[in-house]
Amino acid sequence: MKKYLYLSIAISVIYIVYVISTNLIIDPQATHFLSNKKNLNYHMNVSVWLIVLYIHVISACLGMISGAINFSTKILQKNRKLHRINGYLYLLSVSVACLTSGYMAPFATGGRINSIGFNMMNIIWLVVTITAYVQIKRKRINQHRNWMVRSYVYCYTNMFIQVITFALYNGFGIHYDISYTIAVYVTILLNFIIAEVIIRKVFRVPTQIKSIKKEITSNLTN
Ligand code: HEM
Repeated sequence: MKKYLYLSIAISVIYIVYVISTNLIIDPQATHFLSNKKNLNYHMNVSVWLIVLYIHVISACLGMISGAINFSTKILQKNRKLHRINGYLYLLSVSVACLTSGYMAPFATGGRINSIGFNMMNIIWLVVTITAYVQIKRKRINQHRNWMVRSYVYCYTNMFIQVITFALYNGFGIHYDISYTIAVYVTILLNFIIAEVIIRKVFRVPTQIKSIKKEITSNLTN
């Protein structure tokens, strides 16, 4: 269990360094990414889009790291307050990442088909995250953890899209727009499959937290 936590923190940190350095330092005008946007359905205000992209990248990265930290059972047992505050930080990050994604979706590379894909992900990510929150409000620890897994995999969306697009475009020479579209829809499927595999394989055993159990029992009896 611990090794998976360290692995997800390591992947998150490496990816965050990569995303921040490429998007905010190396290519802050997103020249490379924007060069692939052709035949857009709407007029795009590039300076507004760029600001929204920066907010999107920062909030998504915050979600990636705060989400990973909250899977630590040690923190949950020893510092419940930290888990709670970090949980609200995750909720806020996901909300901002979804809002900004909603703004950028109509201008998605590849056109309307990808706008639909991103909007689908937006809705699913929000619904799944709110469900995780509702579960813990009802004191259902394991359901909360499982829905958090389903929510957290969405933090890897951009990574999956980039890797798949790169492989199809550079490896197989498939047209960029088509590679990107395949990547968006394969990622929707991957997010679903990976979450269910993690829930069934990594979190087979219910989380046992004595202090929480005591609290729940006393809440229920009061
Ligand atoms: C930690 C997670 C995420 C990070 C780090 C991230 C980062 C980025 C970055 C760097 C871009 C610019 C394009 C690129 O270089 O790929 C981008 C674009 C975008 N992202 Fe995210 N993102 C994340 C999660 C998500 C999720 C979950 C959604 C959907 C619910 C989403 C929706 C979008 C949209 C709609 C665009 C614009 C795509 C386009 O113009 O073609 N992102 N994101």
